[in-house]
Order: sequence, then C-alpha cells, then structure tokens
Amino acid sequence: MALKIDEELGGEPVVLIGVLKGSIHFLSDLGRAMKSDAEIDFLQTSSYHGGKSSSGVVQIRKDLDINIEGLNVIIVEDIVDTGVTLSHLRELLSTRKPKSLKVVALLSKEGCRKVHPFVEYIGFEIPNEFVVGYGLDYAERYRNLPYIAILREE
Ligand code: IMP
Repeated sequence: MALKIDEELGGEPVVLIGVLKGSIHFLSDLGRAMKSDAEIDFLQTSSYHGGKSSSGVVQIRKDLDINIEGLNVIIVEDIVDTGVTLSHLRELLSTRKPKSLKVVALLSKEGCRKVHPFVEYIGFEIPNEFVVGYGLDYAERYRNLPYIAILREE
C-alpha cells in the first residue's frame, strides 16, 4: 500500500490524517513504510459509544490542527463497516478544499455498508465479525494486541 500511495503521489507531499484511536498502529506502520514527505494529523469521531454496532450518528470529538486547503490528503482509517464514518469524513474534509482527498483503510467489512464512500486503498476484506487488536478496540480494550482477532462472546 505504501509503495502504491508513494507512486500515485509522484513525489508530492501529503498529509496523513489518522482517525483516532483505531488507526494508530496502522498509521504508524504505513507512514514509516512510505517515502513521500508526510505530515501527520489526527481527528477523532465517535459513533460506537463503546458498543459493537454503529449508532449511525457521527460526531467530531477532535478536529484537525492544520489547515488542509490546497494539500494532498489521505484519511487513514482502521476499518470500514457501515461506511457512515468515512462518508461523513470525506464530505467534511472536502469542504476544506484539499488539493486531493483519498482514503486508505486497513480492513473492510464489505457486506455491511449502509452507504458507499469511495475507498481508494483497502488492505483486507474481512467477514462480518467484530474484530479487535492492532488499534481496534471493544470498549477501549485490546488496542495493544499485536495482531487482529475476532472478539468472542464468552
Ligand atoms: P462505520 O462508520 O460503521 O464504517 O464504522 C467505522 C468505525 O467503527 C471504525 O473506525 C471503528 O472505530 C469502528 N468499528 C467498526 N467495526 C469494528 C470492529 O469490528 N472492531 C472495532 N471497531 C470497529
């Protein structure tokens, strides 16, 4: 993914926007694998409220620190489920007039979309299971696992 993103940037600088908190490890690994000149910023949304399904209402809890007007921007997301978060973010950030706006997501639960935001780079398609680890949480737990696992009920 890093190679592909670098290639498509063609030597231009980029701002990687990590969606907190789930993207932390992915952003860190992706950013270090890229050769492009990259700034890093974060924003935080909330729609899960500690549970296992989206409330469907996306709130911005922490906005960007930098002005992205005229810049190449890539939103770095951990997982796309219903698609509601990403479509909201794409819409919000495109009003700030970036030069380009793309999305990279490590995981995608393809059968679960309520809306279909365009995601330029997807790492892995996964089945409709609730997963944790490598940044992904359940009620703030398991983010530090160095692997991704399906959360079992027991
Ligand atoms: P969407 O708005 O339904 O696409 O949900 C996207 C957000 O929900 C992600 O950024 C995650 O924070 C969270 N999420 C969705 N599926 C999972 C999961 O299986 N495990 C942990 N978090 C998830």
